[in-house]
Amino acid sequence: MKKILFMASESVPFIKTGGLADVVGSLPECFDKRYFDVRVMLPKYMCMHQDKKDMMQYVDHFYMEYNGKSEYVGILKAEYNHIQFYFIDDEYYFNGPTPYGDLRFDLEKFIFFDKAALSALPVIGFQPDIVHCHDWQTGLVPVYLKDSFRGGEFFANMKTVMTIHNLKFQGTWDVKTVKQLSGLPDYYFTSDKLEAYKDANMLKGGIVFADAITTVSATYAEEIKTDFYGEKLNGLLQARANDLRGIVNGIDYDEYDPSTDQFIVKKYNQKNFRKEKVKNKLALQEELGLDRDEKKMMIGIVSRLTGQKGFDLIAYVMDELCQDEVQIVVLGTGEEQYENMFRYFDWKYANKVSANIYYSEELSHKIYASCDAFLMPSLFEPCGLSQLMALRYGTVPIVRETGGLKDTVEPYNEYEGRGTGFSFVNYNAHEMLHAIRYAEQVYYDRKREWNKIVDRAMEADFSWDRSAAKYQEMYDWLVP
Ligand code: ADP
Ligand code: GLC
Repeated sequence: MKKILFMASESVPFIKTGGLADVVGSLPECFDKRYFDVRVMLPKYMCMHQDKKDMMQYVDHFYMEYNGKSEYVGILKAEYNHIQFYFIDDEYYFNGPTPYGDLRFDLEKFIFFDKAALSALPVIGFQPDIVHCHDWQTGLVPVYLKDSFRGGEFFANMKTVMTIHNLKFQGTWDVKTVKQLSGLPDYYFTSDKLEAYKDANMLKGGIVFADAITTVSATYAEEIKTDFYGEKLNGLLQARANDLRGIVNGIDYDEYDPSTDQFIVKKYNQKNFRKEKVKNKLALQEELGLDRDEKKMMIGIVSRLTGQKGFDLIAYVMDELCQDEVQIVVLGTGEEQYENMFRYFDWKYANKVSANIYYSEELSHKIYASCDAFLMPSLFEPCGLSQLMALRYGTVPIVRETGGLKDTVEPYNEYEGRGTGFSFVNYNAHEMLHAIRYAEQVYYDRKREWNKIVDRAMEADFSWDRSAAKYQEMYDWLVP
């Protein structure tokens, strides 16, 4: 039995700000339980919902030297969907209203987490063969395992995997601060290790010291070796290309299932979507105060509102788009400029645009189920889960061909009768508008063709099975 420990800063059902949480929370159940014991370690944030905290049981606690103080480290555990989760408790570091906030404090918080999480392993008696780290927050774990934690038998043979969910975020601060917080010696702060462009970089540490590196789609694995997508680490990623693989994300097919979804008004499946899906649209139009018209093409967006997601393109052509026979439903929070942009268009085109600037699991499911199309014109997209959810609900994705969007949405080809969505290549607003209008044309003028696209979208399989098998293969390669 191979023992694997996921370490991450978020995971469903306990805490979520984006797709990372979906992956960390849904992938572990998909491994073959006869050969893999996969567990998860997270911070215990004060901002977790009470019902989640109520699931947790106290295990033990100890004190750890950190940043010149003796800091409390509590350990809690909870079982969810047959997976064992552990939580590191510390009221000083994990007390904010959200998991992330001020970057300087986040850095101190997650260096603490990395050190505390490793220190907790002998206490709980779980000795993983592989520690699987996710994103910059856990970047020092591979470094520590080659350094301060190497002595003694317990940690000596542990292998590490570093998965990059988003290269944009690296956990960077000045060398002096990181050296002091991490307690790592000078040796590590050179440009072939943690240092990058004069600063210390946690993700870089993880990439340099991990035994294997993965990212969340094959295309993104290629893209990050280039200047444009490489976020200044492309040189390093090229150097480690032999140890870097792209494994596309899946989604939880039980959680996102239009035939059982508790949040939606009318359940449907691949056989009856032609009749039933539209009832969700009518209900959503009513709920959001849009014109009630089952024929009107409804385009959905569920997203963090950040530059990554291509909202500059939308802002640029929104007036033009709103001259068309479409409705646009947005759910998201994030950067103020994009929140206000959608609020403005909601005000300007009240019966056509609905901007919902908040976070809601329930509304997200309703949007995936109710809309005809789903817009995701990302500037870059390591994988993207929203388009997979849209596909699952027969909501046709319109995407830019980048990263995981390129790998998961097959562009419609009217001559061959193939494809599950619409796409465009260049980061150009009118190219996007052109793709949307092509979709409108098929939707309005060739409804049978449209329904075939929906059918193929629902047929596509992005459950975890295939990708979990690839992770298993990698684990077997690391620990024969
Ligand atoms: P990213 O991780 O870059 O944010 P993904 O597409 O991988 O993008 O994952 C986004 C996840 O967050 C999806 O599960 C999506 O439904 C969810 N999500 C994003 N914004 C909201 C919101 N405002 N309310 C509810 N769910 C949201
Ligand atoms: C990141 C990426 C997103 C990916 C998610 C889960 O947040 O932005 O593309 O789907 O991680 O891997």
